[in-house]
Amino acid sequence: MNYFSYQNGTMHCEETALEQIASEIGTPFYVYSAKSFTDSYNNFANAFQSRKNIICFAVKSCSNIGVLGLLGSLGAGADIVSGGELYRALRAGIDPEKIVYAGVGKTRQEIKEALEAGILMFNAESAQELDVLNEVAGSTGKRARVAIRVNPNVDPKTHPYISTGLKKNKFGISADTVKEQFRYAATLEWLDVEGVHCHIGSQLTEVSPFGEAAKIMASLIKDLRADGIDIKYLDMGGGLGITYNGETPPNHSEYAAAVLEAVRDLDVTLIFEPGRNISGNAGALVTRVLYTKDTEAKHFKVVDAAMNDLARPSLYDAYHSILPVRETDAKIKCDVVGPICETGDFLARDREAADVPVDGLYAVMSAGAYGMSMSSNYNSRPRAAEVLVSGGNYFIIRRRETYADLTGPESVPAFLRTGKN
Ligand code: LLP
Repeated sequence: MNYFSYQNGTMHCEETALEQIASEIGTPFYVYSAKSFTDSYNNFANAFQSRKNIICFAVKSCSNIGVLGLLGSLGAGADIVSGGELYRALRAGIDPEKIVYAGVGKTRQEIKEALEAGILMFNAESAQELDVLNEVAGSTGKRARVAIRVNPNVDPKTHPYISTGLKKNKFGISADTVKEQFRYAATLEWLDVEGVHCHIGSQLTEVSPFGEAAKIMASLIKDLRADGIDIKYLDMGGGLGITYNGETPPNHSEYAAAVLEAVRDLDVTLIFEPGRNISGNAGALVTRVLYTKDTEAKHFKVVDAAMNDLARPSLYDAYHSILPVRETDAKIKCDVVGPICETGDFLARDREAADVPVDGLYAVMSAGAYGMSMSSNYNSRPRAAEVLVSGGNYFIIRRRETYADLTGPESVPAFLRTGKN
């Protein structure tokens, strides 16, 4: 099913025209398809239905509570990395017993909040963290279920900024020394050591690194059980890629086959933390052309969305397909740039794109993951609105920020106050 398609020459998300949304709420805005989220989640879940499993959506990829609420209603749990993400997941009604908590820098306060919420598991990333978890669990009087994040040293063959399972990365504990840490954790009074965790990177487009990592994890689980450590959960993290520009990532059943093959003789509950695979192609960023500009070197389309709205092109040189909302055959080689005062503020460079005139709309595709969730207020730009489409209806799940939102948490110090501010 195509969640974004042209109907009568104009792009729709499901049955809702993007032009209609733009004329009613203005631009830029993120638009998500509820059906896309639902289908991706269900396909992922179905691929593992032969085994006990929990699918914990990676909140960092798309954090809006409207989206989390939708996924929660389908049975998803949450993979969180901060107290803020815990708050969002709980607000969205996600079952705390399906929440796993990763991250190399959990604070004592965050750990306490997660213990009080009764989350399923902490994915511990260092020996020191094990001690802190034990200490906070003891002082809170609530036992902490723990997995240790293993760094399996598998090359995910993806962008270096989003590779996480190599020895040189800051994440997890090296597979060579991790058994020691498991044995140590098992001696700590307030910890229940029940899981192994890994996450080797993001936007993987090959299946073999997943299979390789799963084999390393499976053999670790066998060794730990032989040592008397009763591992119940294998958390394989996220990382399954999507198509941005012709990539052919494994489909859900290929991915499942690689993981299931490695664990076929193990009785263990599988946990997955997909983010991008569920949210990436569910969303687009819709933006209006403000100006067109020719220089000696280039043709520019200046649009009203910028790097503060979608950081991926400037941050990772990431490719997002940019399509005209109103179908046209006219093409032009151009840079699509935003209003921010930085040369790095572009959504596409040297792109053969549709030649959309001033006041026309572009849809920046595959922007559902790490789009809005990485946005900022740089250049004091109010953040974009977010809408969730279901069939022929749309729902504003985050209103556009106002200028007052920008300065809301700020204040002019008393010694400067003049009565005017
Ligand atoms: N689990 C853990 C522990 C993670 O660190 C991540 C992502 C995920 C799950 C979800 O990975 P996914 O299924 O979405 O690949 N901002 C970058 C991506 C950073 C990913 C960080 N960790 C981007 O825009 O490409």
